[in-house]
Amino acid sequence: MAKIKTTFYCQNCGASYAKWQGQCTSCNNWNTIVEEIIQKEDKQSKRLVGLVKSNRVAKPIKVSDIETSKELRLKTLNKEFNRVLGGGIVPGSLTLLGGEPGIGKSTLLLQIALQLPFKTLYVSGEESAQQIKMRAARITPNSEQCYILTETKTQHIFKQIEAIEPDIVVIDSIQTLHTDFVESSAGSISQIRECTSELIKYAKETATPVILIGHITKDGNIAGPKILEHMVDTVLQFEGDRNHVYRILRSLKNRFGSTHEIGIFEMLSNGLREVANPSEILLSKNTEQLSGNAVAVTLEGMRALLIEIQALVSTAVYGTPQRSATGYNAKRLNMLLAVLEKRAGFRLGAKDVFLNITGGISIDDPAIDLAVVAAILSSNEDITIEKDICFAGEVGLSGEIRPVNKIDQRISEAEKLGFSKIMVSKHNKIGLKNTLIEIVGVSKIEQVVTELF
Ligand code: TYD
Ligand code: MG
Repeated sequence: MAKIKTTFYCQNCGASYAKWQGQCTSCNNWNTIVEEIIQKEDKQSKRLVGLVKSNRVAKPIKVSDIETSKELRLKTLNKEFNRVLGGGIVPGSLTLLGGEPGIGKSTLLLQIALQLPFKTLYVSGEESAQQIKMRAARITPNSEQCYILTETKTQHIFKQIEAIEPDIVVIDSIQTLHTDFVESSAGSISQIRECTSELIKYAKETATPVILIGHITKDGNIAGPKILEHMVDTVLQFEGDRNHVYRILRSLKNRFGSTHEIGIFEMLSNGLREVANPSEILLSKNTEQLSGNAVAVTLEGMRALLIEIQALVSTAVYGTPQRSATGYNAKRLNMLLAVLEKRAGFRLGAKDVFLNITGGISIDDPAIDLAVVAAILSSNEDITIEKDICFAGEVGLSGEIRPVNKIDQRISEAEKLGFSKIMVSKHNKIGLKNTLIEIVGVSKIEQVVTELF
C-alpha cells in the first residue's frame, strides 16, 4: 500500500507542523491546526505531467539581452482596473482579487472578461454556466471572445486551456480548486498552495496572465495562507460598504506598479460602472447648508478626492458620553476632541460626538483632521460653514495645523469642483503659485475658530 504523507497546517496563518498541537506558535491562535493529507507517494513522480509540456532548463542571461515585447501590458476596457494594476495586465502575471462575499468580485472580473478584446477563459467553481450567462446578459449583451468553464479540478482545467489557448484566464475562486496531487479537501491550505503553484507555473511558462478570486476571512485577510499573497504578483482588494453602491478597488501588493492607486466603481443593476470623477458623487447635492458639515480634500492613491464629513455634537444623556466614528479612526476622533478641549477651550467632555464620512468609504489620510475639527465645531456651535470652503490639514497634539503632502493636487481638485476657499496649514501656503481659489493659511486651532465663526 502506498504510504500517505500528511502535514498539520494552521488554517489561520498557514504554518506547518509535523505534529498536532493545540496552539499555533506562529499566530498564537488556538484550535486552528488541522491534519491534511498531502499526497500519495506513488503520485509524486507524475506531478505536473500534462500541465505544461516543458523541459527547458533556464540559463543566466544578461539583463541587457532580455527581450521585451513593445506593448508590455494587456489593456482592459476598464480604465479604473487598468489604473489600479499600473496600466494594464502584465503577461504571465498572477493577480489575486480578494474581498468580502457579495461585494462584487465575480461581477467585476466577469465584466472585464466579457469586454476584453482577447480570448478569455472564465473558470468558475462557484456558479453554473446558466447562472453566469444570466449575469453576463445583464452586464454586456454579447461577447464573442469569452469562454466559460465550470470545473474545479486543475488537471481538467489545464486540459481545456491547452485546447482553446486563451490569452487570459480568470479563476473564480482559488478556494474551490483542487488538484489530484493533494488529497485534502478543496479550500484547505495545502490545496490552495498546490493549485496556486500549478497556476503560477502555467502563467510564467506560457506568459498568460491569470487572475484569481480569493475569499476573505472574517477578520479581513484573504482566506488561505499568507503564503498565497507571497506567491502571486499582485494582490487587489475590492472593498466597500455593502449597503452603499460604491466600491473601491485597491492594490495591496504590486510587483509591476505602485500600490497607491485606487479605482472607484458604482454597483448598478447592470454591473459595475466606473466612476471617473469620484468627488462629484461623494459631495451631497444639498443646496441648503447644515451645521456639522464640512468638506475635506483627501488623497486616495494619486487622486485627490473631496468628501463630506458630518459631525453631530449633543449633550450626553447618559453619564458616559458616547463617541462614534464611521469611516474614520475612533481613536483619532478622541484625540482631536482632547485637543479641542485643551487647546481651544471647548467643553466637549460631557457631550456625545458622532462622526460620519459620507459615501460609506473609510479614510485614514490625516489631512482630513482639519475638516473633522471644523465639522465638530460647527455642530457644537450650531453655526453652518459656508458651502464653498473646504479643508486640508493635519491637526497635531498641541493644536497646531500641520502641512500635508501633494497640496497642489488637492488645491487644483477643489478649484475644479468650484470651491472658492480652501483652508490649509500656514506652512503649506508657502511657495504656492497664484490660484483662482482663495487659500487661507492657519497655524493654530484657535485661528480656525476665528476664521470660521
Ligand atoms: P458578486 O459578484 O456575486 O459578489 P462576489 O463574487 O464578490 O461574492 O456580486 C453579488 C452582488 O452584486 C449581489 O448582491 C448583487 C449585486 N449585483 C448588482 O447589484 N448588479 C449586477 O449587475 C450584478 C451582476 C450583481
Ligand atoms: Mg463570486
